[in-house]
Amino acid sequence: LSKIEIKLSDIPEGKNMTFKWRGKPLFVRHRTEKEISAEANVDLSELRDPQHDTDRVVKPAWVIVIGVCTHLGCVPIANAGEYGGYYCPCHGSHYDASGRIRKGPAPLNLEVPYYEFHDEDTVVVG
Ligand code: FES
Repeated sequence: LSKIEIKLSDIPEGKNMTFKWRGKPLFVRHRTEKEISAEANVDLSELRDPQHDTDRVVKPAWVIVIGVCTHLGCVPIANAGEYGGYYCPCHGSHYDASGRIRKGPAPLNLEVPYYEFHDEDTVVVG
């Protein structure tokens, strides 16, 4: 299927759920207020692949990214690593709660796919 519809009320705050989309893992993360403000306040000069959090999300509570490490393609683990977002155990890449690379060998942030919110409870990716 080229599109996937996700019901957001199934994902509690603070949790990340993994879906399969176009043969790849798709992460949908319901961020806490603390994560939202921490990521919004990151200084871009600290980032290897500088992108403001607001350019990676449509609604601050929801981070939607492809769950493929930009190093060599392993699937990172959610809510792990030194930056609290994702950790790739293959060679130790740490991503923040915006999916941005912060430490380790990966060169780029986790990819943000195209998506639209159809209503308060539904997002369609693809
Ligand atoms: Fe993720 Fe190498 S594939 S760190």
